[in-house]
Amino acid sequence: MSKAIFIRHANEVITLKGGSDAPLTKERMEELHIIKGGSVWIEDGNIHAVGTDEEILADYQNRLDEAEVIDARGKVVAPGFVDPHTHLVFAGSRENEFNMRLEGSSYMEIMNAGGGIHATTRATREAGQEQLFTESKRRLDKFLMHGVTTVEAKSGYGLSLEHEMKQLEVAKKLNNSHCIDIVSTFMGAHAVPGDYKENPDQFVDIVINEMIPKVAEAGLAEFNDVFCEHGVFTPEQSKRILEAGLKHGLKPKIHADEIEPYGGAETAAEVGAVSADHLLKASDEGMKMMADKGVIGVLLPGTAFFLMADSANGRKMIDTGVPVALSTDCNPGSSPTVSLPLIMNLGCLKMGMTPAEVITATTINAAHAINRGHEVGSIEVGKKADVVILDVPNYMQLQYHYGVNHTETVIKGGKVVV
Ligand code: NIG
Ligand code: FE
Repeated sequence: MSKAIFIRHANEVITLKGGSDAPLTKERMEELHIIKGGSVWIEDGNIHAVGTDEEILADYQNRLDEAEVIDARGKVVAPGFVDPHTHLVFAGSRENEFNMRLEGSSYMEIMNAGGGIHATTRATREAGQEQLFTESKRRLDKFLMHGVTTVEAKSGYGLSLEHEMKQLEVAKKLNNSHCIDIVSTFMGAHAVPGDYKENPDQFVDIVINEMIPKVAEAGLAEFNDVFCEHGVFTPEQSKRILEAGLKHGLKPKIHADEIEPYGGAETAAEVGAVSADHLLKASDEGMKMMADKGVIGVLLPGTAFFLMADSANGRKMIDTGVPVALSTDCNPGSSPTVSLPLIMNLGCLKMGMTPAEVITATTINAAHAINRGHEVGSIEVGKKADVVILDVPNYMQLQYHYGVNHTETVIKGGKVVV
């Protein structure tokens, strides 16, 4: 069993208490529940106590020599960050397409010409599990350096039962061997493979009748995602795929209204999705429907930035009552980054979110977006001891000193790992 850890005298302990049952909306996204001069006692992998130093000492005074003591004076202590939308497991890279886009080609043009998702699908199909594991592990290591302790990981670069399963199996192996926790999402409906270009419904049937039942039976995914976009999957096809997943216990997620307004936010509300992601072009009506149904908006401002597009309207979404989370969307085409801190910066600078809201969006709300709100995302007694120590005197400086990774120490499941 690992030694207890006593983090003492932090300038600020951001607890985010009270958000475990449901994601936070509106003004509650601003309530970080900060303890100034705060301390945290960690034991058996969990948070045992959080409060002022005096409060903790009252109970633990005679056990001080059992613990590794970390002095956090002048620093901020926060829950380990959660990234609720990544395409973690893939092979290769697409810097050539980045150059094409800089010269004026669009993301969809490249994809429709057989590049984009199709290019990574070719590379991922060719790669063995070992190669996929090694390449993806390097990304996970870098996520950890940025204070990320839980990530969601989608398949979607296999586009056949065999290769989708291969990606999901690699995610499972990574989850078992890496300290970062991985929550898996099946995304067989990430693109229509070239062979089915003339008859996309035939591919939809394969996703529904072959892939979803097998993936669910093997217990390889908790969520089911679909790229609902003009020229990819229609809202009707998306709905069929997500409802089929629900029948097999896979909770729905959706890539919605990324490139064009397409009724994706509305579809998310209609099927009762846990989250709708991207939403750059979501309609006002779609946002209202999401707010009514409590669908979490997972916003990906790094993707908009990298595609040189206007960001989603995070401000309006929060004001409409949508619970908002933020994510890297880490993938080789539209967002090749693992820097969740940079995404928070963009949340403020490109989407009008406040420094407090972006923290809620990358901790407790992000945890809810992958059904982990009861386990992680806040520093509360009984929760998993996933904690980061940030080398800034107050949380606002995380966004003010932008473009910097302020992560100094990462504690995962009660162990110091960075
Ligand atoms: O979330 N939009 C669809 N899927 C990914 C990009 C995947 C890729 O380009 O490889 C996204 O942006
Ligand atoms: Fe994505």
